[in-house]
Amino acid sequence: GYDVSKLLATTGDVTLDVGFGNTAACRSAITYIDGDAGILRYRGYPIEQLAEHSTFLETSYLVLYGELPTAAQLAEFTERISTHHLLDERLKEMFRLFPRRSHPMPVLAAGINALSTFAMPPVSLEEKTLEQQTYRLMAQVPTLAAYGYKNSLGLPTLYPDESLGYIENFLRMSFGVPSRPYEIDDTIVRALDVLLILHADHEQNCSTSTVRMVGSSGANLYLSVAAGVSALSGPLHGGANQAVIEMLQQMRDTGESVATFVQKVKDKKSGVKLMGFGHRIYKNFDPRAQIVKRHADAILRERPGHDELLDLALALEEAARSDDYFTERKLYPNVDFYTGLIYQAMGFPSNMFTVLFTIGRLPGWIAHWREQSLDPATKIGRPRQVYTGVVQRDYVPSDQR
Ligand code: ACO
Repeated sequence: GYDVSKLLATTGDVTLDVGFGNTAACRSAITYIDGDAGILRYRGYPIEQLAEHSTFLETSYLVLYGELPTAAQLAEFTERISTHHLLDERLKEMFRLFPRRSHPMPVLAAGINALSTFAMPPVSLEEKTLEQQTYRLMAQVPTLAAYGYKNSLGLPTLYPDESLGYIENFLRMSFGVPSRPYEIDDTIVRALDVLLILHADHEQNCSTSTVRMVGSSGANLYLSVAAGVSALSGPLHGGANQAVIEMLQQMRDTGESVATFVQKVKDKKSGVKLMGFGHRIYKNFDPRAQIVKRHADAILRERPGHDELLDLALALEEAARSDDYFTERKLYPNVDFYTGLIYQAMGFPSNMFTVLFTIGRLPGWIAHWREQSLDPATKIGRPRQVYTGVVQRDYVPSDQR
C-alpha cells in the first residue's frame, strides 16, 4: 500500500528505506497485524475478543509466554507480580530530586534505568533471572509511575497494597491518600484494564524496535525497556494521546471551529497535524480506536463536563471522514484519538497519559526483548546508511580557512 518509489532508492548494495516502511528487521511470533484489513491479533487471538473477555494480566501472560494461562498459571503469575510491587526505599528518594514540573515520562525512564542498579540477582539470560526481571518490571513500573505522579503533586506516596488487583493497586497508589480508604470504581477499573489490553503489543512500532535495538547489543532488560519509554514519549508515537487532548482543549478554549481547524491542518505550511490521526500500518481503520471509541462514549456520557471534548473529537472525525485530504491519504483515528478523553475522565492529568500507555506496552516490550535474546539467530542491530557528504578533502590549517 505504500508509494515504494518514495521510500526506496537502491544504491549499490545498500537499500535506503527511510522510516523502515518496507524493511523487516526480525522474525516474530508475538503479534500479527494486517493494516489494510484492520486486523490485530496477539498470539493469534483477535484484539476484539481479548478486549471483551480477557484481563490485562491474562493478556500479558499470553503476550509473554505465547498461550493463554490456565487458572492455576494465572493465579501464580498474578501472585508473583503482586509480591514485587514494593520499591527499594533508596529508589524512592530519587523522585525528590526531580523538579515538580518534570514531565513524568523522563522521570519514569530514569526510574526504570535505576531499577537495573537494584537488580538481584545480576541480570543474565538464565531462565529464573529472566522470570524475576519480568515480574519486577511488570510490578514496579506501575509503582514508579504512581510515585512520579504523587511527587509531581508534592503529595506523599502510598505503599503498594498486595491484596488489591493490579489495576486497583495502581489507581489507589495514584489517587489514594494515606488517611482515607480508597474507593474503587469498578467501571474505571475495567476501562483501564481494557485500555491496557489494547496497548499490550503492536509488533515493530518505534518504541518496541528501540527496545529490540538496544537489547541486540546485549544491554539488559531494564535498560532496553527504559530506552523504549524514551521512544514512546514522542508526540508522533505514545505522546500523541497527550497532544490530542491539548489540541481539543485549545479548540474549546479559543472557540476555533472544526472547519477552521481542519483547514489549518490541510494547509501544510501551518505545520499543524490532526493529532491522533494517521498510522504507518493501518490504512482503513485502527481496530483499537473503534473499541476505545465505544468505551469513551459509554464512560464520558455518564460524567458531566467530559462530553464536551468528546463531541469535539466526534465532530473532527466526522469532518475528516468526508474530506478528500484525509481520505486520499488514508488518515483515520488511531488508538490515541480517544484514549486521552477516558484517562482525563479517570482523573489523570494529560502529562500522565503516555505513562499509562507505557504500563500497557510493557508486556510487549518484555516479550520482544525475551524473544530476541533467546533466538540464536539474533544479530546486533546495525542499519546501513547512504552517505551524502563530501567524499574526501584535505585538512586546512585554521589560519588558511
Ligand atoms: N494530520 C495531517 N496530515 C497528516 C497526518 C495528520 N495526523 N498524518 C499524516 N498526514 C499526512 C502527511 O503530511 C503526508 O502528507 P503528504 O503525502 O502530502 O506529504 C501523508 O499524510 C502521509 O503521512 P506520513 O507522515 O508520511 O505517514 P507516516 O506513516 O510516516 O506517519 C504517523 C504516521 C506518524 C502516525 C502520522 O500519521 C502522524 O504524525 N500522525 C499524528 C500523530 C499521531 O497520532 N501519532 C500516534 C500514532 S499511533 C501510536 O503511536 C500509538
